[in-house]
Amino acid sequence: MKVTAINGSPNAAGNTAYALNQAGLSLREEGIDFEMIHVGNKPVHGCTGCCRCFEKRDGRCVFADDIVNEVLPVLKASDGIILGSPVYYSGIAGAMKSFLDRTFFVSGANGNYFRHKVGASVAAVRRSGGTMTFNSLNMYLSISEMLIASSNYWNVIHGNEPAEAAEDIEGVQVMHVLGKNIAWMLKMKEATRELVAEPEATGKIFTNFIR
Ligand SMILES: Cc1cc2nc3c(=O)[nH]c(=O)nc-3n(C[C@H](O)[C@H](O)[C@H](O)COP(=O)(O)O)c2cc1C
Repeated sequence: MKVTAINGSPNAAGNTAYALNQAGLSLREEGIDFEMIHVGNKPVHGCTGCCRCFEKRDGRCVFADDIVNEVLPVLKASDGIILGSPVYYSGIAGAMKSFLDRTFFVSGANGNYFRHKVGASVAAVRRSGGTMTFNSLNMYLSISEMLIASSNYWNVIHGNEPAEAAEDIEGVQVMHVLGKNIAWMLKMKEATRELVAEPEATGKIFTNFIR
């Protein structure tokens, strides 16, 4: 089984990456493969709402010159996904937000690749906006019928300079516990695959509160 983490920070060795790697350590201890993909250090188009992904339904975004179409099949093939972002102005960092909007829109257009995968979110912050960003990341997971793994506190790690998060020993523990819980959920899912049927996907009712 494999978990893919998305690092939404421009720092490939910063606090977000550090937090994700701590969860990854626990996952590997439990025999789960762990890979991190760096998204925040690349230019990523914002979603233009052109809806070509819903017209074509070919699993691709119309913008073919950035990382989204490359990462989509990797996420589709993963059993678990961890979204990580640094806190920028109390929210998700820009490139990560663009990446998530387009990735989850394409997934939605193609029957929801992420349904019933295990998911978790992680935020790295100097001081304020950690839980707000954590909540915002969780929105992508919860709209996708994902099984959200949790820890013994909200998944936020504190630090400013790259890798300073190592000094946040409570935050480090949160990430270790998160990794263990993700591994356990994946193993439970695997062990009960033949015993407990997944609920079938329901056709989506879509209203805009006007008609
Ligand atoms: C543009 C920008 C905006 C930021 N906004 C906030 C913020 O709202 N609250 C905060 O506590 N830290 C803020 N920070 C600090 C980062 O969240 C913090 O340094 C984080 O650990 C960076 O993670 P990284 O090492 O993975 O890049 C900001 C940093 C930058 C560059």
